[in-house]
Formats: sequence, C-alpha cells, structure tokens
Amino acid sequence: KGQTLISFFYPTQNTQQMELLAKNGTSVIAMDMVPRISRAQKMDALSSMANIAGYRAVIEAGNNFGRFFTGQITAAGKVPPAKVLIIGAGVAGLAAIGTATSLGAITYAFDVRPEVAEQIESMGAEFVFLDFEEAQTDGAETGGYAAPSSPEFREKQLEKFRDLAPEMDIVITTALIPGKPAPKLILADTARLMRPGSVVVDLAAEQGGNCELTRPGEVVTEDGITVIGFTDLTSRMAAQSSQLYGNNVVHLLTELCPEKNGEIAINLEDEVIRGLTVVHVNEVLWPPPAPRLSATPTPAPTQPVGAGQAKQEERKKSGSALGSVLALAVVLGLILGVGAFAPKSFMGHFTVFVLSVFVGWQVIWNVTPALHTPLMSVTNAISGIIVVGALVQMSSGSGVVVALAAVALFVASINIFGGFWVTQRMLRMFRKDS
Ligand code: NAI
Repeated sequence: KGQTLISFFYPTQNTQQMELLAKNGTSVIAMDMVPRISRAQKMDALSSMANIAGYRAVIEAGNNFGRFFTGQITAAGKVPPAKVLIIGAGVAGLAAIGTATSLGAITYAFDVRPEVAEQIESMGAEFVFLDFEEAQTDGAETGGYAAPSSPEFREKQLEKFRDLAPEMDIVITTALIPGKPAPKLILADTARLMRPGSVVVDLAAEQGGNCELTRPGEVVTEDGITVIGFTDLTSRMAAQSSQLYGNNVVHLLTELCPEKNGEIAINLEDEVIRGLTVVHVNEVLWPPPAPRLSATPTPAPTQPVGAGQAKQEERKKSGSALGSVLALAVVLGLILGVGAFAPKSFMGHFTVFVLSVFVGWQVIWNVTPALHTPLMSVTNAISGIIVVGALVQMSSGSGVVVALAAVALFVASINIFGGFWVTQRMLRMFRKDS
C-alpha cells in the first residue's frame, strides 16, 4: 500500500493484476503506456526497445543469410545486392530500414499508414505502393498508431506480398496494432515462394507473428527458408537496452518528482503522466482518455448556417472591415499630422518604418506555430540588421540615441545568440560523437 510500481505492465492483458493492485492501494506506472507525443519521447521505452529490436533483426537476418548485403563486382565474380522487404514502418521498422540500407541492401518497405512513405524514402528505402482507396486515419488521432484496415485492403496487401516474395532475400515484419493479435501478412504459401536461403525475421512473434510459419522464440527452417521468431531481440543486446531503458526511467522519475526530493507526486492533470498511470489511489485509471494533440488541424464544422446566423456573420464581417478602414484612416491622419510639422528627412524614414511594421505584422501573423523554427532564421537576419543599425548609432552625440541603440543591441543579441543556442542543441541530437 502506498508504493509505486514502475514497469512494463501491458494493462490490456493484465486486467486481473490491475484490479488486485488497485485494491491493494499500489500506484502503477506502465512504461508501455507512454503516449506517442513529442514531449514524452524521452520516456518512450517501447520506442527505445523497438529501435534496438529493429537493428538486431537485421543482424540476426544477416547471421542466417549466406550472402553479402551489398552488391560487389570482384575478380572472383559478381555478387548481386540483397533485397530486403520491411513490413510495418513504425519505430522497429524504420530502425531496420536504416540498418539494412547502411549495410548496402536494396530495401523496400510497406506500411498501412501512407504518411510514413516520406520517412521510408528519407531512410533510403523504396515505399511499396498499394493501389487501393481507403478512408485512411491519421496516426496522430490514434496516438501515433495505425487503425485496423478493411478485409478488402488486407486481400490486396497479401496479393502484393505474394508478388514480391520470389524477389526478396530477407523479409522483416514488424506490423502490429497495439492490443490486437499480429495480422498474418506472410502466409505459408507466400513464404514458400521465397528462394532457398532466404530469411524471414518476425518481430511480432510474441503476438502470434506476422508470418504463418513463425514459431515464437524459435528459428525454424522450412524448404530452405529460415524463419526467426525471437521474442527477446532486445535482451540479445542487453548492455545497449539497459542503457537506453535506464535513461527512459530517469527521465520518467524527473517528471514524477517535480520537487526533486525523491517523493513521487503523480499529477493526473499532465497528459503524459495520466496516460502512464494505470492504477492510482485504489482506482483503475486505464484506459486513459484519447490524446488531445493532433498534428492535423481540426476541420471547421460543416453545419448548415441558419439565416439569422448568416446575417450575424455578415454584420460581424462588415463591422471588422469598418474597423480596418477606421484604423487605416487614423494611421493616415497621424502620418499627415506628423508630416505637417516634422522635417523632410524624418518623413522618409518614418514612412519606411510604418510600412515595415505593417508588412512584418502581415507576414508573421499568419504563420502557423509549426513553422516558427524556420521563421527563427529570418528573425535572426532581421536582428542582424538591427545590430548593425544600433552600432552605427552608437557614435551619436545624443545620450537618448545611444541608450536606445544599446537597448536595441541587447535585445537583438538575445534573439541571435538564443537562436544559435537552440539550433546547436537541435544539431547535437543528430551528432554521432557526443
Ligand atoms: P509501431 O506501432 O511503431 O509499428 C508498427 C507498424 O506496423 C506501424 O507503423 C503500423 O502502421 C504498421 N502496421 C500495422 N498493421 C499493419 C499491416 N496490416 N500492414 C502493414 N503495416 C502495418 O511498433 P514498433 O514499436 O515498431 O514495434 C513493432 C513490433 O516489434 C511489435 O510487434 C513489437 O511488439 C515488436 N517488438 C519485438 C521485439 C522482439 O524482441 N521480438 C522487441 C521490441 C518490439
């Protein structure tokens, strides 16, 4: 009672234990329930483990495959490159694509989520296109996971794999929808179409396997085709797995102990913590509410607009147009007023200033938050201009001008160095040596 259990828990499969722990007064944080949103990535143990499993799957395939991955032309003869098909381009699938292409194989990949086609191509593989119209769901709405597909789509998929099988040397399957048994995608007859010496690695073996010939935890050979059904790929790279899992847990503890005093304070208002907490204060909190964040903008409601409402909207529109005209008239009046008294040279600068404020405001106002990072580089350029202007004004005799220039220099420098600092941090994430 009063203790907190942090572990992989699989609440779908372990409802009884969940009830028991709730009765007991234990809090349960399920490491496999981290929502797939960017803020939670540092705690996403499923992803860090799937990444290792994807890498290891290619190494296991290579170990059982009697040829090079890369093509070679040597004095002793010509070696064709190995062809690898990866089914399911989630975390494990993308890791497998990266490893297979870096070893020199020609890699193909398929996924039911068409939005991953770009990710597949950016990793150097070719997206296997299925000519089929289906109302696709956006992964962001289902917490970054695929939704089940229709029987017709499945048939089309099986046909495609049957066509591809004779050409492929290695097939790595990672297709899974959480909480569902693994879909059978490489049927026994499809697997048998592969050439002798070919290898199938089935990452979904634990959930029944994507290949009909898979036996969980075993390596079987049928008609010269090796089918690897290891369910412990991450344990086969224990040091690496422990290091990354350790990091995930440390990041989780940082979130759970905001006071940094070692006392766990479960904040259910936090979407990530809410998703992870399956049992708390004698209550089963699973399943959590659907993630609120979606990468796609929500479409505007398409209700028919009533006559009254339409009139109101029209009035609103004409009201805002009137407001803009009034604002413009006030600005014009101000410019004319200033122009009547100010010296001629001032007016030139003043007009440019007003125009640049207007254009700058128009440009930046409509930029979506997702584009703020690229926008930063533009604001850095603007800050650079401000710095040059401030430096030029520094030698001015007037104290006010020098003070204003100093403030401008300071504020613009914060923007420039801050921008460099953030960019540096982002680049460091991709660097191999740090
Ligand atoms: P994920 O959810 O990120 O990726 C699964 C992918 O499969 C998704 O992109 C989804 O769109 C796709 N998919 C679902 N149904 C499909 C279908 N019918 N056809 C084609 N694609 C389909 O999952 P993640 O983290 O990449 O893990 C993949 C698999 O690897 C899981 O089964 C997981 O349990 C397993 N795994 C196995 C390990 C082992 O030691 N054998 C270790 C770690 C993970």
